[in-house]
Amino acid sequence: MSKDVVLTGITTTGTPHLGNYVGAIRPAIEASQNTNNQAYYFLADYHALIKCQDPALVHQSTKEIAATWLALGLNTDNVVFYRQSDVPEIPELMWFLTCLAAKGLMNRAHAYKAAVDANEAEGEDSDKAVTMGLFSYPVLMAADILMFNATKVPVGKDQIQHVEMARDIAQRFNHIYGEHFALPEAVVDEQVAVLQGLDGRKMSKSYNNTIPLFLPEKKLQKHINKIKTNLLEPGEPKDADTSTVFQIWQAFATDEQTAEMRREFENGIAWGEAKKRLFALINDELKEARERYNELMENGPEIERILLEGAEKARASSSVLLKDLRKAVGIYSLA
Ligand code: TRP
Repeated sequence: MSKDVVLTGITTTGTPHLGNYVGAIRPAIEASQNTNNQAYYFLADYHALIKCQDPALVHQSTKEIAATWLALGLNTDNVVFYRQSDVPEIPELMWFLTCLAAKGLMNRAHAYKAAVDANEAEGEDSDKAVTMGLFSYPVLMAADILMFNATKVPVGKDQIQHVEMARDIAQRFNHIYGEHFALPEAVVDEQVAVLQGLDGRKMSKSYNNTIPLFLPEKKLQKHINKIKTNLLEPGEPKDADTSTVFQIWQAFATDEQTAEMRREFENGIAWGEAKKRLFALINDELKEARERYNELMENGPEIERILLEGAEKARASSSVLLKDLRKAVGIYSLA
């Protein structure tokens, strides 16, 4: 059987937080040790422009995300790690796909639909502030995926629809121009924890309730102290299952440590004490990586070198495939 090609992208808006770490980064880095797959992980900086028109933020976020993944031990011998904008074949493929993707399919894309629904609810023009970038977002994502003939695409639930659209577009291309693309499948890991944020809702940049991943120790402790709790006093039994402190504990602890903390809750551990232990647990897991992260953040040229090396590997296959695709659609030398 041929190897699976695993591919996933990270949009470069914002600073990685504990929720990203537990939900996406940690499992992806673990998977990067698996040599049975060919894996592609990339920084989706073209996607970032759809949501964010602050150049400093896009640039800074690209650096932070790259440094984060490298500091946490991404194995770049097994995984092709690159920046989307370093692979010019991707936007070219996007145009080929744009010319056969059905507009009606894009009308149903949830990010676009949500924008339209919000406009209509406010009695505005339905396309108010909707850009072609937002509308075409799934076509760019299809180009990312099909460019490397990815078969497995690890994503969050909100992205399943986009992977299905990529599949649809691939089938259409294959039907018109002959078999060129493998059909991708979304992989959603149901095991992976969705971390709660400071206020108990899902940890997310849009709720402004995150704990950034590589805060200096003191600030990390401060953030953890801000996690919402109830007013139960030391000595009063506490419910682990409704506690954000416990939920985050669980995402970093071994099974034994989790069972132990559950008993501490039943015995009425003080919130201050529970948070102190939570800090120590998280800090232990992250402190070495944090040092590497800080070093890398001081060394932009090193990050750049690694990304360009990744782009070179990526282009070794994308340039070959794109040559075939150009031929397939009728764009090639007249000589
Ligand atoms: N749109 C994805 C997100 O916001 C990121 C992404 C871009 C992606 N291109 C991709 C994910 C290709 C998987 C495959 O999470």
